[in-house]
Amino acid sequence: MASVQKNTLVSDAGGPSETMSVAALSSDADLPTPENLLQEYKELRERSQRTTNALASAAHDLKTPLSILNGYVEVLHSEKLGPLNDRQREVLHDMQASGKRLQQFIQDFLTFSALETGGLRMQFESGNINECLSEVSRLWSNRFQQKGLALYFLANDKLPVFPFDSPKLERVISNLLENSFKFTPTGGTVWLHAEPHMWERRAASQPSTDERRRQNVTQPNSVKVSVSDTGPGIPAEFHLEVFDDFFRLPSNENQEGMGLGLAIARRLVQGMGGKIWVESDAGAGCKFSFLIPYKPAVAAASKGKNR
Ligand SMILES: Nc1ncnc2c1ncn2[C@@H]1O[C@H](COP(=O)(O)OP(=O)(O)O)[C@@H](O)[C@H]1O
Ligand SMILES: [Mg+2]
Repeated sequence: MASVQKNTLVSDAGGPSETMSVAALSSDADLPTPENLLQEYKELRERSQRTTNALASAAHDLKTPLSILNGYVEVLHSEKLGPLNDRQREVLHDMQASGKRLQQFIQDFLTFSALETGGLRMQFESGNINECLSEVSRLWSNRFQQKGLALYFLANDKLPVFPFDSPKLERVISNLLENSFKFTPTGGTVWLHAEPHMWERRAASQPSTDERRRQNVTQPNSVKVSVSDTGPGIPAEFHLEVFDDFFRLPSNENQEGMGLGLAIARRLVQGMGGKIWVESDAGAGCKFSFLIPYKPAVAAASKGKNR
C-alpha cells in the first residue's frame, strides 16, 4: 500500500521533488508488484461492494415507510378526509412533489446498486420499439407542457420488430428526457427520434468492401435513439465524464439530482450490447444518442465502469 501511495506522490508533486521521489523509489522493494496491485484491487472492490450493499439496504428500508407517507399525503390532498383551505392544499402539493422526488432518488440508487453488483438481468422480448418510445413520451408530455416545453416524437415505421428489454429501454429514454426537461429553459424544444442504423464496430482488421457486402453488413443492424434539446448544452471536456457515477457539471451542483441518471443509462445500454454518447456545444443544446443492436449481444460491461 505504502509503495502505491509513493507512486501517486511522484506524479502529483512534480518539479524538484520529483527527482527525489524517483530516487527513493529506485529500490525494487518499494515498487508495487503485480500481485500486490491485484490484491489491493480485490480488497478495494470488495470494500466498495460492501458499501454499495449497505447503502442499498438502507435505501430499501426507506422505501416502504416513504410510500406509506406518500399514500397518506395523496389521501389528504384528494380531500377524501375533509376539505382543505388553499394554504393546506399548497403545502400538501409541495409534500407530494418532494415525496415523489425522494422515491425517484431511492429507485435510482437501488437500480444503480443492482447494476453494480450484477443483480439486474436483461430480459429480451421481441417487440416494436415505437410503442416503447411513444409510451415514454406520453408519460412525460404533461410535465413538458406544464413547464412550457415542446416535446416531439414521431414513430418511425422503418424500424423492424426485434428483441429488446422494454422496461429498461423505457428507463434509459426516461432518464434522458428527464434531463432535457430539467435543464432546458421554458420555451425550449425537445425531440425524441429513432432510426435504423448501420453500426460498424471497429475490428482489428477491417473487412474489404466486397467482404462486407457478402456479409450484408451494409444493412442496418441496430436502432439509433436520440434525445435532443435546446438547453444550455455540455462543454466538450465533460462529454465522457457525464456518464460517470455521481457526476454533475460544476454549474449544476446546486440543482436537484444525484448524478446517477446517465450512469444508469450507460450501464443499461451496455447491458443490451449497445453504446451511448453525447454531442453538444456549450450553449447550443445537447444531443444524447444510443445504439441498440437488433441481435442482442449481452455485454459483460453491464457491470462496473467499463466504457
Ligand atoms: N440535457 C442536458 N443538458 C445539460 N446538461 C445535462 C443534460 N443532461 C445531463 N446534463 C449534465 O450531466 C449531469 C449528469 O446527469 P445525470 O447523471 O442524469 O444526473 P442528475 O440529473 O441527477 O444531475 C447533470 O447534472 C448535468 O450537469
Ligand atoms: Mg438526471
